[in-house]
Amino acid sequence: MSAELPPRLERIPREIACATDYEAFARARLDDNAWAYLAGAAGDGVTQAANRTAFEALSLLPRVMRGSAGASTRVSLLGHDLAHPMLLAPVAYQRLFHPDCEAATAMAASAVDALMVAATLSSLPMEMIAAQAQGAPQWFQLYLQPDRGVTRALLRRAEAAGFSGIVLTVDAPVSGIRNAEQRAGFHLPTDIVAANFAGLPQPTLPREGHPVFDIAMAHAPTFADLDWLAAQTTLPVIVKGVLHAADAREALAQGAQAIIVSNHGGRTLDTLVPAILALPRIADAIGDDAPLLLDGGVRRGTDVLKALALGARAVLVGRPYAMALAAAGPLGVAHCIRLLVEELAVAMALTGTRSLTAIDGDLIWRG
Ligand SMILES: Cc1cc2nc3c(=O)[nH]c(=O)nc-3n(C[C@H](O)[C@H](O)[C@H](O)COP(=O)(O)O)c2cc1C
Repeated sequence: MSAELPPRLERIPREIACATDYEAFARARLDDNAWAYLAGAAGDGVTQAANRTAFEALSLLPRVMRGSAGASTRVSLLGHDLAHPMLLAPVAYQRLFHPDCEAATAMAASAVDALMVAATLSSLPMEMIAAQAQGAPQWFQLYLQPDRGVTRALLRRAEAAGFSGIVLTVDAPVSGIRNAEQRAGFHLPTDIVAANFAGLPQPTLPREGHPVFDIAMAHAPTFADLDWLAAQTTLPVIVKGVLHAADAREALAQGAQAIIVSNHGGRTLDTLVPAILALPRIADAIGDDAPLLLDGGVRRGTDVLKALALGARAVLVGRPYAMALAAAGPLGVAHCIRLLVEELAVAMALTGTRSLTAIDGDLIWRG
């Protein structure tokens, strides 16, 4: 970080009243390189924006005079009894945003009882992230590796470190075309590395052929790989990056125990359907067979309520907490999640929602 950027916040100013208020404070504290990576999206950013406008276009239909004393934000998810349904999405290379990177995020997540998903491409080794969990559950996000031995090594380490789920990301086998990053000349500074790969063999990729179809896609995950993966680990496998109901069904048939409906926050292919619009069809197809999660554009407690009304069990947030990390370190991350949980509680009370398991589609205005 260059000298002229302001220091991290050490207390939270009253101007930060909601999760998105962190954005301006993060922008001021990051150079153009890190900002392009954090805030950018694929192409014109149509999907990134549509994730938001789709949430905003949904109206809640509240019930009144039903009493919500004794209500709770608790949810159960794959064996965990969670205090609230707000998870921290996998976000790679957090040292770009704060020197304490994923350790700060893990510490903050545990302080606010949030399940954190640690990225394969973390800037700290997964064991050091797990060491900050202090009893809070953590999942490990996995990018399938060209060498199955390397994938197995990552799995064994995740199991040994205490992660309780494997999130297999399937929607980014090739990097999205992120014009904002290209314009900023985005690069990883030399002191920021994918720390989980230290000491592991480098992949041998094909040297010739089409750069997308023959090289990048040569090791893209398939349903057969999912079947293989599920047999390699005792941990539940959660598939992240599904938008089509048939893919969700197939993933469950091949061993997944949960699905994350996601367009990667609009960072892969632009003009993909907003995740919240894809959710209802997937929920119809899956029924009660497995929990669904959703991410992409969750910025308010009311968004959480809408996602749960349309079939999700829980949600993940990405950019908001990463921006809070950039602005105010672990204090910021904890505060950002706390704001969302408080908003959710107020939204529950003002819609007459006593329990998150009781939510259904009646909470959404159908016109
Ligand atoms: C800077 C950044 C890095 C990310 N890195 C990963 C990653 O390594 N693996 C992954 O599965 N998703 C990654 N994502 C996607 C998030 O997990 C999540 O799907 C997305 O951020 C949700 O949308 P939101 O930012 O609108 O909340 C990343 C997102 C951001 C913003």
